[in-house]
Amino acid sequence: MEHAASRGSFSGRLGFILAAAGSAVGLGNLWRFPYLAEQYGGGIFLLTYIVLVITFGVALMITEIAIGRRTGKSCIDAFLDLGEKYKVVGWLIAIIPLIIVPYYCVIGGWVTKYFVEYMSGMGSTLAGGSFYESFTSVSLPGLFDNPVIWFVIYAILSVSVVAFGVQKGVERMSKVLLPGLLILLVGICLYTLTLDGISDGLQYYLVPDFNQFSMKTVLGALGQLFYSLSLAMGIMITYGSYMRKNVDIEKSAYTICLMDSCVAFLCGLMIVPAVVVFIGPGLTDGFGLMFETMPLVFETMPAGHAIGAIFFLLAMFAAWTSSISLSETAVSIFRDRWGWRRSIACIVCLVLILALGMLSCLGFGPLSNIQPFGMSFLGFFDFITNSVLMPIAAIITCIIIGYFVKPKFVIDEVESSGKFRIKHAYVYLVKFICPVLMVIILVAGLLDYFGIYTI
Ligand code: PHE
Repeated sequence: MEHAASRGSFSGRLGFILAAAGSAVGLGNLWRFPYLAEQYGGGIFLLTYIVLVITFGVALMITEIAIGRRTGKSCIDAFLDLGEKYKVVGWLIAIIPLIIVPYYCVIGGWVTKYFVEYMSGMGSTLAGGSFYESFTSVSLPGLFDNPVIWFVIYAILSVSVVAFGVQKGVERMSKVLLPGLLILLVGICLYTLTLDGISDGLQYYLVPDFNQFSMKTVLGALGQLFYSLSLAMGIMITYGSYMRKNVDIEKSAYTICLMDSCVAFLCGLMIVPAVVVFIGPGLTDGFGLMFETMPLVFETMPAGHAIGAIFFLLAMFAAWTSSISLSETAVSIFRDRWGWRRSIACIVCLVLILALGMLSCLGFGPLSNIQPFGMSFLGFFDFITNSVLMPIAAIITCIIIGYFVKPKFVIDEVESSGKFRIKHAYVYLVKFICPVLMVIILVAGLLDYFGIYTI
């Protein structure tokens, strides 16, 4: 993303879709989706997620892209264009990436560490007992066994790419590496499906058990949808502003939602059934799911260590493109709003990432006795953004478009470049279904979460 004054554009539909998919596919799919699916009852979470993507996901994706393309501006200015009084909404949405990127870098650091371990032939250590727990609780003695080091390296790498404005190069590489990731995912899935006893795990992941359904499941799935599709944080508005006027918005939205959900499904298929075989359901802390299960899978696999190295390399890239796009968003806010030089904005951004991220990084070890709302710092930042701020941002966006600016604003933009096949459904979704259901999900989910009221 570039400064508004030198706004470029994507080369066409494929260019737009690849860039948006590059932002969408990341740790959300690899790390977050499988652990939520495992925690919230497997099949029932998967079903809830799919229903939400088809309805809310598609509607919001179309809305955000259309706002971006019609105004030609990024988040805060786009809302300002909709009306002076909506500026504060733009701000609320713009703050979300600033909270996400620090803890994203912490997990990115873990992925980098795992890659390096596999490269240096230490794959078996990762599979042994409680490596993940000792590593994240900062209790291993070596300097390079300290998660802080990896977090700092990863954060500096991400912000430097933004600082030197070379993300084009990284994005180009990711266009080769993302398909590579997809092929590897399918390969690993095929392998895990041959493991002894996998059928129980498969059943858990694929067959919905309606007894496990609660409002928490829906809130979890809703938050995941925003996170994974990069919605409700201004990113798709900015991407829309770079989209050419002749590209079909509706079709692009379907394609992005479909691609991202397929990747998430495969990641779940690779990890969730295997957890049941190797660890047993419900026995991990969630965040560690990918980091505990995958080494065990690689340990049993022929040439497992080499495949482990490739897997974590590709995961690192998927995460990297996403954290670059998150940091770029943060940096462009400073630049657009206050006219800061890129270098200053990057330094401020890095300091912010290091300060906030450090809390998340140390939250499983030295700071584990501080538990905001009974969660670890990482859990807290993740919860406050995905389960609280993003649903609120999405509700407000629907209300502004549905009642004040009017759906015609979006419809005209979509129709300027193609037929809007679900126009009527869209109006209902944005005016009634999305805002009403999201308010119910948010309130009920929060009450359920804190044990105030169980449905
Ligand atoms: N969607 C990304 C993921 O699934 C996270 C992300 C959000 C990246 C917003 C960029 C912007 O990992």
